[in-house]
Amino acid sequence: MSDKPNPLTKEEQKLFGDLMPEELDEIIQTGLNRRHFMKLVGLASAGLLAGHLIGAEQVLARGVALGEIEDLPAAAIENGVQVSFKVNTAPTKVMVDSRMTLLDTLRERLGLTGSKKGCDHGQCGACTVIVNGNRVLSCLTLAATCQGKSVITIEGLAKDQVLNPMQEAFLKHDGFQCGFCTSGQICSAVALMKEAKEGQASYVTANLRQTQTSLMLNNEEIAERMSGNICRCGAYPNIVAAIKEAQTGKNVEQNWLTI
Ligand code: FES
Ligand code: FES
Repeated sequence: MSDKPNPLTKEEQKLFGDLMPEELDEIIQTGLNRRHFMKLVGLASAGLLAGHLIGAEQVLARGVALGEIEDLPAAAIENGVQVSFKVNTAPTKVMVDSRMTLLDTLRERLGLTGSKKGCDHGQCGACTVIVNGNRVLSCLTLAATCQGKSVITIEGLAKDQVLNPMQEAFLKHDGFQCGFCTSGQICSAVALMKEAKEGQASYVTANLRQTQTSLMLNNEEIAERMSGNICRCGAYPNIVAAIKEAQTGKNVEQNWLTI
């Protein structure tokens, strides 16, 4: 992947020693290449990296940071279409099967694994990303329909190492436990701020006829509007508190202090 091999960390050496022992020498001498990286991605997809999380994360992050996931030739992909779009402000071109979802494209072709695949059926919200400012379920969105659009994922919310206020609020309020749903929750909540600002009504908005320019969301509104994002850990009260704090910019008491 690079001219000069990047020395492997201890965790990475263990990872390759256990999973690809026959390739370890080559990796140490010539560095990681696309084949090693894709093999690792394959193992990750198969859930075989549980015992090597730190090393695997380092290598996968290295691949993404270097932006070296090469495009595949059209002939290698059935029904291939080229999609040009912006992903987290970076102009991106990728060849995908025309039936490939945005979620799979982000995770498997662009290495952006922050968006999670929970149900793959539009029922859990774990895959939520922001397309042209609006939240969408990336498991139900074909990548090909994103041509020319702007896609923001959890990886693109922080700017210059500064977290998005919604991310800060989730941290402060412990709006998660296992974290599996969290990237979807946060993307959803960020787009929700725009919906509230535009005065978009929800099922529980009291007066649908009233033209609103900006809505301050109460707990009921937040719960209703976030109802597409399921959290099996049940971190809902903390999620609601975090969203309230991010919207008002004012300190919202942490739930465990009020018990
Ligand atoms: Fe998309 Fe569950 S993975 S809604
Ligand atoms: Fe575990 Fe939400 S934090 S599913």
